[in-house]
Order: sequence, then C-alpha cells, then structure tokens
Amino acid sequence: MTTAVAPILHVDDVTVRFGGVTAVSGVSLQVERGARWAVIGPNGAGKTTLFKTISGEVHPTTGRVHLFGADTSRSTPYKNAQSGLGRTYQVTELFQALTVEENLSIAAQARARSRFACWRPLRIKGWIDERITSVLDQLHLSAERHTVVSELSHGEQRQLEIALALATEPEILLLDEPAAGLSAAERRLMRDLVEGLSRDLTIVLIEHDMEIALELVDHVLVLDNGQVIAEGDPESIRADDRVQAVYLRSD
Ligand SMILES: Nc1ncnc2c1ncn2[C@@H]1O[C@H](COP(=O)(O)OP(=O)(O)O)[C@@H](O)[C@H]1O
Ligand SMILES: [Mg+2]
Repeated sequence: MTTAVAPILHVDDVTVRFGGVTAVSGVSLQVERGARWAVIGPNGAGKTTLFKTISGEVHPTTGRVHLFGADTSRSTPYKNAQSGLGRTYQVTELFQALTVEENLSIAAQARARSRFACWRPLRIKGWIDERITSVLDQLHLSAERHTVVSELSHGEQRQLEIALALATEPEILLLDEPAAGLSAAERRLMRDLVEGLSRDLTIVLIEHDMEIALELVDHVLVLDNGQVIAEGDPESIRADDRVQAVYLRSD
C-alpha cells in the first residue's frame, strides 16, 4: 500500500489569500513520521496561517494538504483531530473557571467517544483517568491536577495547553509558539518538556525565537512574506545569510 510509506504530512504548493493579502505563497513541505520540524520567520510571515491550512481551519486557495496519506485540503478541524492531529494555539484557549483535570477530561472524552464508542462507560472512565495522569506527568503538572486554571501561572497554562492536545492521543502535534510570552526560566522548562515528548510523536513547531526552535528540531522551514526562503537542518539554517538578514531586520 502506498499510504504506508506516505509522509504523515504533505503540504503541496499551498497558497492562501485573504482578499488582497497573500498570507501563504506556494509553500511545500513533507514531514516524515516521527520527525521534528520547526516553522520559523518574523511576525506576519504566514506561520499561523500555514498551521490553519494543516488543521483545516483555513482552506488553501490553491494547492493541497495531505494528512496521514489522505487529501485533507477541504477537511475540517474536527475531522482532522479525529484522524490524529493535535494542535495548540498562539493564544490561550483554556476554560479558566475549571480545574486542570476538568479541562483535560473534556479533551480526553472527545477522543474516547470517537475511539471507543463500543466500550462500557466505566472502561472509558478508566481510560480517561489513565490518559490524564500520563499527560500531567509528561507536562510536569501532576501537582496541579485539582487547581483552577485561572490560578496557574502563564507558563503552567501553556504547559496545560500541550497536555490538552496530548490528551486526544495525537499522532502529529502542531505547536504554535509554545514559549511566547514566557520568562527565560519558563522558556527553558518549555524547551525541556517539548524535547522530552515521545519520539513516536511527530511534531511541527512554530517558534519566533530561533534559538529555541533550532535546539528542538531536526528540520527547519523559514518563511518570510508567506514564502519559503530557506529549508534545512538547524546548522545550515543558522549559517544561512538570508535567514540572518530576515531576523536582523525584524528584531
Ligand atoms: N483572517 C485573516 N484575514 C486577513 N488577513 C489575515 C488573516 N489571517 C492572517 N492574515 C494576514 O496574513 C499574514 C500572515 O499572518 P500569520 O499567518 O498570522 O503570520 P505569523 O503567524 O507568521 O505571524 C499577515 O499579513 C496577516 O495580517
Ligand atoms: Mg502566528
């Protein structure tokens, strides 16, 4: 079967226009299962829009997206999540008045309902409890299980967002600026947590901070004005004159 060797994610010559604005212009990439990628570039480069075309929130104006070997160019976020795509957002999307566990339970239930429809409720509850315990452990939040989200620090809230995405048991995880707005110490912790995630999980990370991004991944795509201006391993990206010029211009 050809799908067995297909990349887990294939973006093929995608362009996204919003009225007169071309947010993404002719972008292609192929992510193999288990790989770790970063998409970097200055503000307004088209990073988040590219993520939205992968998750199904935005449909490409031209070009195609394939996830798990299937054409998802016209798919929806809900369907893609059910197929195994997890995503965090640039801006926090948590239920502030609920506890950490309650937030996670909502995410895990959505997954359990679609996956184990034939299971007895008690068995599903057991699966959800185990899943919550596991992701809290991975994101160093076990001590905050019963804390109301509004009482968490900003850094802990960003950790919880990754935990929420993992609660759905994704095969590929898209992280949109997980270290944005964090203190230096929180950024280091976030880097270590992402680094420590399962190597079976495919990760595509958007990160404005080039140093954090380059430490975490084996492959980098650099966007500027919606276009790919460089692609390669972290070493070659660090040494790339065009990339340095873009970052000097924007910082
Ligand atoms: N819904 C939208 N409508 C109109 N323009 C948009 C929309 N979303 C993004 N854009 C524009 O597309 C460009 C890329 O934005 P974005 O993908 O958010 O960049 P990044 O995440 O790299 O900062 C920007 O010029 C932005 O203003
Ligand atoms: Mg963005």
